[in-house]
Amino acid sequence: MVGAMRSQIGIVGAGPAGLFLAHLLHRAGIASVILETRSRAAVESTIRAGMLGDWVVRLMRDMGLAERLEREAHFHDGVTLQVGETRQHLDLAGLTGGKQVTIYAQHEVLKDLIAARLADGGEMHFEAHVTSLDGIEADRAAIHFTQAGVAHRLDCDFIVAADGFHGPGRLAIPAEARSEYHKDYPFAWLGILCHAPRSWPELIYARHEDGFALLTTRSDSIQRLYIQCDPGDPIEAWPDARIWDTLQCRLATPGWSLTEGAIFQRSIIPLRSFVCETMRHGRLFLAGDAAHIVPPTGAKGLNLAVADVRILARAFERFYAHADTTGFETYAATALGRIWKGERFSWWMTTMLHRDPSETAFEHRIHAAELAYVMNSTAAQAALAENYLGLPFAD
Ligand code: DHB
Repeated sequence: MVGAMRSQIGIVGAGPAGLFLAHLLHRAGIASVILETRSRAAVESTIRAGMLGDWVVRLMRDMGLAERLEREAHFHDGVTLQVGETRQHLDLAGLTGGKQVTIYAQHEVLKDLIAARLADGGEMHFEAHVTSLDGIEADRAAIHFTQAGVAHRLDCDFIVAADGFHGPGRLAIPAEARSEYHKDYPFAWLGILCHAPRSWPELIYARHEDGFALLTTRSDSIQRLYIQCDPGDPIEAWPDARIWDTLQCRLATPGWSLTEGAIFQRSIIPLRSFVCETMRHGRLFLAGDAAHIVPPTGAKGLNLAVADVRILARAFERFYAHADTTGFETYAATALGRIWKGERFSWWMTTMLHRDPSETAFEHRIHAAELAYVMNSTAAQAALAENYLGLPFAD
């Protein structure tokens, strides 16, 4: 049995890109339907990064989506860089005219956006598995999907693939029409969540001869920590004792020690940089991780995804209000300007802070010198601060 439905915009994916887009479109009076392959519970509990750029927080406030964030997020004025046993506080607020680091886990953002979308009467289908995207080069587009074994079709004017790096959206663009750029890193991250009090008042990014470590937080009693590891490591290679020994070693500084606690979540995260510059093909648009991936150092992924859909929502507004397609033609170029800056920044933070097993002795010293420069130069810190908290929009 085939059930057909219709909307102006069909959105594949209920991640940051898809959900922010649905909200922005709703505010502009444009109808959308979200199809998400996972269950609502899975979307709302998958652990991702937790740092929001300053303008994303302001956007959430403007949209009335920041009520819980205001209560539960952690706002820091800066971050700490560590090399060997030396720590240096970077006063990011002072360097950016008062912008703050906001720590609020991505799945908490998604919970808030899903609840608000449902309260607005928004249509969202979970466990909806896309089987094909049709008509993207024709006059009408359609998304075929199955839900609970039943085949459905969503007819729409345009399709936005906000379905992540592994989703089917990007692959609907013929391979010969896609320009893609990528870089894999010869290291990964092990991320953990544990029950423990905070050990330091702000994030610590540490470069150690054995590899990178990052201390961040989720609440007064839950901490998030990351360790550079081998991308081939099975999770079993990291029992609790090895995790704590590694963290104590890489974050060590005289007179301080990390407070340990029960680890209740652990996963290995690959590091890659990827850009698909072909972000539009006929009636199909790519947004977020479907079009680009950054390594997690600096937590730019969500921020870049939201920036894409902010641009895309305006393009749809111009089209529906004035039959003006300029925004469609300029979408990729406008989004890519910001994306490549995010790619550069994430690559730069990553190479400066990690121990790359494939780097030459010369490159190793250059990366150490880069960090030493940032630790001691206000000019370098101002550049880091501007990129870290989110480059401003031109408009
Ligand atoms: C977090 C993750 C990051 O990759 C980062 O750079 C900062 C914070 C986090 O999970 O809190």
